[in-house]
Amino acid sequence: MDDALVRAEGAGKRYGSGSGAVTALRAVTLAVAPGEFVALMGRSGCGKTTLLNLLGAMDTPTAGEIWLAGQRTSSLSDNDLTALRRRSVGFVFQAFHLLPTLSVRENIEVPLLLAGLPLGARARELTERVELAHKLEAFPHQLSGGEQQRAALARALAHHPPLVIADEPTGNLDSHSAARIMELLAGLAGEAGAAVIMATHSTEAARWATRIIEMSDGEVV
Ligand SMILES: Nc1ncnc2c1ncn2[C@@H]1O[C@H](COP(=O)(O)OP(=O)(O)O)[C@@H](O)[C@H]1O
Ligand SMILES: [Mg+2]
Repeated sequence: MDDALVRAEGAGKRYGSGSGAVTALRAVTLAVAPGEFVALMGRSGCGKTTLLNLLGAMDTPTAGEIWLAGQRTSSLSDNDLTALRRRSVGFVFQAFHLLPTLSVRENIEVPLLLAGLPLGARARELTERVELAHKLEAFPHQLSGGEQQRAALARALAHHPPLVIADEPTGNLDSHSAARIMELLAGLAGEAGAAVIMATHSTEAARWATRIIEMSDGEVV
């Protein structure tokens, strides 16, 4: 029996080969259930982003296994891995990563297009939820950092992914904008029943989590 949405079984990651190889992650085992909100904490370089990339099917492990939505990611072809990721995961990044030539509405619609879903009024609905309805047709450079991250949050949730991966989502924000992002992330993911796995250095941000996982030197401690 397995109620986990995503599971790491002795998952490890080495970058490079030979004398230049770096072991970024060693034998991590953990499971995250639907609706959980997990914070990954630990100093810079301890492997948080590497683990998020494995859990979110951005990359595959070089040791052990990752299971996401019932699929073992290392057994999938690149195309199947991409399809799994587009269907199952929404991403929020520290530097927002909105596409600069697309409007807020178009940015939010990208995951819908990639997943082959109808656009409908989803972008409008989500911008209302994140208080950006007045910026629907604006471009990223016309938004403040907090507004850009609210748009990125709307984009991450657009296709109703069961898993949201957030890599230091408040790292580039002032404390007021950070608090607003965390409230929206927890609120929207909670309503959608989505699991959230978030790397953060912020104890304020981690207070929103239902579970905190500490990492050190590529391991869960
Ligand atoms: N693509 C890569 N190639 C080589 N080394 C990498 C790569 N990505 C990360 N690393 C190394 O792996 C370790 C873990 O990095 P990372 O997962 O980014 O940590 P964190 O997100 O906790 O700061 C670090 O030593 C980092 O330099
Ligand atoms: Mg990182």
